Amino acid sequence: MKQGYSCAIAVLGSLNYDFVVRGPRLPVRGETVMGDRFNMQCGGKGANQACQAVLLGARVTMIGCVGRDFMGDEQLKSLGGAGAELAHIYRHPNLPTGACAIHVDSRGDNTIMVAAGANNAVTPAMVEAAREEIESADVFVTQLEIGEAAIIRGLQIASAAGRFVMLDPAPMRPIPETVWGMIDLVKPNETEAAYYTGIAREGRSLTEWAAQMAAKLRAMGPRHAVITLGREGAWYDGPDGAFLVPGFAVDAVDTTGSGDSFSGALAVAIAEGMPMRDAILFANAAGAVTATRDGAQTSMRGREHVEALLHR
Ligand code: RIB
Repeated sequence: MKQGYSCAIAVLGSLNYDFVVRGPRLPVRGETVMGDRFNMQCGGKGANQACQAVLLGARVTMIGCVGRDFMGDEQLKSLGGAGAELAHIYRHPNLPTGACAIHVDSRGDNTIMVAAGANNAVTPAMVEAAREEIESADVFVTQLEIGEAAIIRGLQIASAAGRFVMLDPAPMRPIPETVWGMIDLVKPNETEAAYYTGIAREGRSLTEWAAQMAAKLRAMGPRHAVITLGREGAWYDGPDGAFLVPGFAVDAVDTTGSGDSFSGALAVAIAEGMPMRDAILFANAAGAVTATRDGAQTSMRGREHVEALLHR
């Protein structure tokens, strides 16, 4: 480990630019709602997770692709400014940087639509070029916002090297059966967990439902399943038992990127060797801190903020 870092994380994933309109409520189909604020800022599930991990003190290598446009420039500035290694972020000559249209309501809840752009141009060869960084990372993290072939190559390299492999299976989409066997930890939210397990809530309490889904996810391959439950916290099922780790009550302004903070922080906590219950509590706190400000990467904070909430 290089001096000054608590651990090493390799993140393979998307880098987006988010166009965010905030208003009193989310529009329904065919409706126009008058919003009250607009912001543009760096996002993307991969870049967000990388950003959170770096802010918590990890050495982070980001693997991905942006366009040669102002949105790509901003991403490199944001992640580079935070301290991430940028050598494996490619710049596509023709495709634009991934872009997202995001609506946020007065409770901080959102809807997101993504135009993948250059994220779809991440190739297995690009991932191969980062083999050394993946093989030397304590934890390898990926999501589902880039092309499938690249994701699979990353999972193969990381799992063959015996790295701890985390998949944040968002946005939800069909994935090959073989993927499940290469993952140590899967971290969906409850909607994604229902999609992958096919288990509907059907009048069960949130935690009963989460418990069933987590058990099924583990039966599909991963040793650990963590289902995030928004304000309620997160349900864990794995070698450490099956339990709820409570969330933190905060005044949520914008939950965009909270799930990514959770993933980035969980990766760091696991890489640092925290027991799983403590690691999930730490990740819950990181996600809650992010929900208290506007934006994704702009709202993420370092360890002192996370520790302050943990010890409040
Ligand atoms: O998870 C939040 C992120 O999802 C946003 O930053 C947006 O870019 C989409 O990738």
